[in-house]
Amino acid sequence: MAAQPDIGIAVNRVDGAKKVTGQATYAGEHPAQDLLYGVIVSAGITRGRITSIDTSHARQVEGVVEVLTHENRPHVPWFDMDDGGSAATSKPPFRTLCDDSIAFAGQPIALVVGINFEAARRGAMLVTASYQEASHNTSLETALPQRFTPEEKKKGNTTKGDVDAACAQAVAKVERRYHLAMEQHHPMEMHATTVEWHGNGTVTLYDKNQGSQNAQEQLTRAFGYTAETLKVINPYVGGAFGSGLRPAYQAYLAMLAAIMLERSVRVTLTRQQMFTHVHRPACIEDVTLACDAQSKLTAIALKATTSTSQFETYTENIVGWGPTAYPCENIRLDYAVAAIDTPTPGNMRAPGAATGMNLFEIAMDELAYANGIDPLALRLANYSDTHGLKDLPYTSKALMAAYQEGAARFGWHDRSPQPRSMHEGKELIGWGMATGIWDALMLKASARATLDERGILTIASAASDIGTGTYTIMAQIVAGALGLPLDRVKVSLGDSSLPPAGLAGGSSMATSVGAAVSRVCGELAQQLFKTVAQSKDNPFGTVRFEEVEFCEGCMRLVKDPSRFIDYPNIVALSGASSLHCEASIDPSKDSTDAKAKNTHAAVFAEVRVDQELGVVRVTRLTLAVAAGRIINPKTARSQILGGAVMGIGMALQEESMFDHRLGRIMNHNLAEYHIPCHADVYDIDVIFVEEPDSEMSPLGAKGVGEIGTVGTAAAIANAIYHATGKRVRDLPITLDKLL
Ligand code: MOS
Repeated sequence: MAAQPDIGIAVNRVDGAKKVTGQATYAGEHPAQDLLYGVIVSAGITRGRITSIDTSHARQVEGVVEVLTHENRPHVPWFDMDDGGSAATSKPPFRTLCDDSIAFAGQPIALVVGINFEAARRGAMLVTASYQEASHNTSLETALPQRFTPEEKKKGNTTKGDVDAACAQAVAKVERRYHLAMEQHHPMEMHATTVEWHGNGTVTLYDKNQGSQNAQEQLTRAFGYTAETLKVINPYVGGAFGSGLRPAYQAYLAMLAAIMLERSVRVTLTRQQMFTHVHRPACIEDVTLACDAQSKLTAIALKATTSTSQFETYTENIVGWGPTAYPCENIRLDYAVAAIDTPTPGNMRAPGAATGMNLFEIAMDELAYANGIDPLALRLANYSDTHGLKDLPYTSKALMAAYQEGAARFGWHDRSPQPRSMHEGKELIGWGMATGIWDALMLKASARATLDERGILTIASAASDIGTGTYTIMAQIVAGALGLPLDRVKVSLGDSSLPPAGLAGGSSMATSVGAAVSRVCGELAQQLFKTVAQSKDNPFGTVRFEEVEFCEGCMRLVKDPSRFIDYPNIVALSGASSLHCEASIDPSKDSTDAKAKNTHAAVFAEVRVDQELGVVRVTRLTLAVAAGRIINPKTARSQILGGAVMGIGMALQEESMFDHRLGRIMNHNLAEYHIPCHADVYDIDVIFVEEPDSEMSPLGAKGVGEIGTVGTAAAIANAIYHATGKRVRDLPITLDKLL
């Protein structure tokens, strides 16, 4: 008997072959009849007003059909809306081509539409504008005095105990300012939309986003369509990491052009325009930590400010993570934002935690040295089975096992504690570690199962696979639940007309859609059983549901597997051409509220630092992850690898370098905005520790992805200190900071 592909098996991606052979079609590739191409013209100033815009030269280019600007764009409901504006500024969110105002460098000011891309691009080069410039500021540092805490964040700014008294009595104390540079979103696939204009009042948008129904909801409201008349399709997404949580501006531009011209239109952002879409905000954080003689934290005071735009308030949870991981009696948390003249920041892999916990964990390393204790020992001295801020027990928390297994695999206990004590040739060697924490999230989700007369089972959900392996794990869940080989399971995702599902964000797909798929399979099994039990030709006689199993494409007797009926025959018995079932998952009913839910990681890093050049190589990373049940160790490992590589980028490379005089990002291309390439990535060892969890979600999964980024940058920064004796509190740690 061949083993059934099942939960917990490292099967290959079911969509892998389609992706590597070019058969998977992305947003900017979908064919449409009489398609027009739009190219975006970006503003030449950072702040002010357009006084005039000249499109006449662009219009003379052969093949250019129209040039949309704020002066001639069609009027749509979006321009009258005042929803989603921030309470703090009471201004509406950015709406492309709404009026003559410019709020950030690179803001779109025109869309040149042509019969082909080349004509549109040529036209775009010829659009000129005059501006009335206003003064701008793109530096968070400069904006700090204007920091403010938005209403919804005020309750998180808690104070408990007496921080100052605890600091006065501390055995060891750290009080430092840390910086994280603004990071840019660069998934492999750039943001793109193809609007298919059907000419009958309906449109189909092939759009890059992380939730077909979320994009649909926003776009229908903006353009006065309905869920019936505006469909969003995104079967394949080339990475998103948060950049697709709401539709990007090219989707609105493509719709405006389609409405104006009554034609199908495609707009794709260029790589440079991706720098004007969405980013991880810059952060400045003052961290104060104090501990007693037993190395127990006695005070945590955090004052953090992240950047936001002038027209919207984007916030994150920056200060909550440290005191969640390490309960402490005396806490003072102060989070605020400060507005600068950039696009609105947005979620980027482990938003908030990647910033707040990484900076916190560098301070923890400093405290360990201040108190003369091993950095891992400091974490163990402050270990807790409860959520420090909510004071709630966990549904599961196997971080202790992660520390132990990670340390053993890495060889942490052979570390010589002194900075600069390990070297080889001209390279200094350093070992550092950090804790990672992320939310275990479950969102509402539903799925439909259809079993056809050939015994092929199709699962359908509006959920998106943003490249993480959702297709694969859903197929595995079905295969495991109903005893089907993977090639008889089809998974249909990324279509707003399918059963509802939330955003593919927050590492929530496995817990949410996975649970819905698991449930619908259970219900289908019941239906299969009833179909057989109620039929005249029932081969089993009187039998209870508990006495049958679903295996190898059949329903069979547990006691006597030779008595079976295969799925095509069950469908035939039903008299219908297929059997259907739909099921939903709702966190308010299917997950507990009485306990805390988080994933955790213990991250260990080895760096080698060239003493003469300051070049840092991250030669080893060990990530021991506690994230509940792992549905596919291969795709889950890939998620952690990706997160860890982003962590390397955060520690060493990623940084939006502004020329504040111009208010522009100077390194707005992937040649100068550095990210880790293959040569920067050495050994990454991923361990998933056992973490049984029956309360978080019906499947026991807690989600992976973002957890790989939280802790990694700190472990690397701490390893650099151990190697060099130099503490850099300003990420990324570029080589100039080490010389
Ligand atoms: Mo993620 S930042 O939840 O897509």
